[in-house]
Amino acid sequence: MWKKFSSTITIVFLILCAAANSIVKASFEDEVDIKRSDFPDGFLFGAATSSYQIEGANLEDGRSLCNWDVFCHIKGSIANGDSADIAEDHYNRYMEDIEILHSLGVDAYRFSISWSRVLPSMHFLSPFERFHCSCFFLSWVVVFDKHICDYGGGKFGGVNQAGILFYNKIIDNLLSRGAMPNDYLIKCFLLFKQICFIADNSKFSAGIEPFVTIHHFDYPQELENRYGGWLSHLMQEDFVHFAEICFQSFGDRVKYWCTINEPNLFSEFAYERGTYPPAHCSPPFGNCSTGNSDVEPLIAVHNMLLGHAKTVKIYRERFKSEQRGVVGIVVHSFMYKPLTEDKRDKEAADRALAFNIAWILDPVVFGDYPPEMRHYHGSELPKFASEERIILRDSIDFIGINHYATLYAKDCIYSSCICNDSSCTKGSDRAIRGFVYTAAERDGVPIGEPTGMARFFVVPRGMEEIVEYAKKRYLNKPMFVTENGYSSPLNKVEDYHHDVKRINYLKSYLAFLARAIRNGADVRGYFLWTLMDDFEWVNGYSVRFGIYRVDPQTLNRTPKLSASWFRNFLSNCSLNYVESCNSISLMNTDESRAQSE
Ligand code: NOJ
Repeated sequence: MWKKFSSTITIVFLILCAAANSIVKASFEDEVDIKRSDFPDGFLFGAATSSYQIEGANLEDGRSLCNWDVFCHIKGSIANGDSADIAEDHYNRYMEDIEILHSLGVDAYRFSISWSRVLPSMHFLSPFERFHCSCFFLSWVVVFDKHICDYGGGKFGGVNQAGILFYNKIIDNLLSRGAMPNDYLIKCFLLFKQICFIADNSKFSAGIEPFVTIHHFDYPQELENRYGGWLSHLMQEDFVHFAEICFQSFGDRVKYWCTINEPNLFSEFAYERGTYPPAHCSPPFGNCSTGNSDVEPLIAVHNMLLGHAKTVKIYRERFKSEQRGVVGIVVHSFMYKPLTEDKRDKEAADRALAFNIAWILDPVVFGDYPPEMRHYHGSELPKFASEERIILRDSIDFIGINHYATLYAKDCIYSSCICNDSSCTKGSDRAIRGFVYTAAERDGVPIGEPTGMARFFVVPRGMEEIVEYAKKRYLNKPMFVTENGYSSPLNKVEDYHHDVKRINYLKSYLAFLARAIRNGADVRGYFLWTLMDDFEWVNGYSVRFGIYRVDPQTLNRTPKLSASWFRNFLSNCSLNYVESCNSISLMNTDESRAQSE
């Protein structure tokens, strides 16, 4: 009797599950109605960019060459021989771009600071300075900037005031985008905001909130030449110095800081696959002229994590009480699903998450590398000293998640993952990859619709799953989705204007994000990648993530359909018919230039 009853219950349960699944599928793949009001009050919606990808002006106003400037000019590094010497010329067109952001109605704008624009060169000590620094007594009798001793004669110095001015203009203009008629009022408002921040930042924020990444892949080439960039522990101090200059110069107005963007992805490409500067790798990952793919990514990340922790310590000790900002780190976050139902593939998917995401987040939350990594790595995984663990632990106020796609994971501990041709990813059978083979296809069927980026397939549910993962592992620490966006498959002309697939992508990912939030995840904001088509690293300009198209000749910006959709979404208008609610007109630099001529 019980048996019959339980099997009936099982059947009913399965039918219900199947029905629920098909409802979810239908609603997310066909017509997704997602509204801004599906997100909590005070949730920040924004767009994101990074300095190197849009600024251009690579030698203007005292900026020095960075690692990417040099790399781009090495033949064969970038698709079609592209470079970002000019990029989108944001350095000279930033006012137009801020107008665009304003016309979209975003709450916040995530951008990064170009290290080589702010600190272009080394500070050499003059004979007097050298004498002063070597004589402790003098510091009591002569007024002297102690930083010169700390940072001169070895560390990077020489603040470029033109660089500071550029970011000051961006920040001030963002904050003033709230119908402030003149400078005086802007200043009063900023002062008022400063005072009221004590109560609640979100309530008093008019204008566009600057959300600043200190380091997004680009650093002065001189640091690479002098000591090998992130492979040297010296880079930690130089990074801290750069971050301090940012806090000192902009921290009175910037309340959200990200120390480093995607240390995990950067170190994989720069030191394991050798496709980003400084192009280090070793077989089987690639054939670079130098490098050790099994070890160097671990060292680079180790230095980045310590640079992050030291920066946050200084922020909390010297700046936070006055500036009242928050600091996080941004991690590149693929979601991983087991390739088969086999228990070993399930473990491989968990391992992939640990070796890619927890690699960065465990140290800054718990103070050490994930146990999964300690288990499989030997002495190549660096160790933190006990005082380092102390400053690392709890060194973030929020987690920044860059999420685009999901991959399958297959175990390489118990089964063979040897890869002999170009169709598979080499090195999966190594500890540095967690003994996990990742793929975007199962039995020839892709995990989701392809996009313009290899390995970025559309799997909206992954957004909910990755947020759930971070929520569980990091005890629901506040999170921001610091990047999410869609690049059209190459040479699709419709992407120029009628980018319906981008709209569907954004809607469906947002719907799953809203679901994660409803289930209790503490996500505080979402940044769409990216504002305009830009320099997409090794893909040059061949891959386009923008909601604005940039004309390659004139560099004028024109809104794609997705920009209208985003604007309507942000103003909580009807979402499925973008034409139905156009009260605010979108900034179109093609038109505005034509009118002024
Ligand atoms: C993440 C990186 O932060 C960003 O620079 C890049 O353009 C996007 N992913 C898309 O690949």
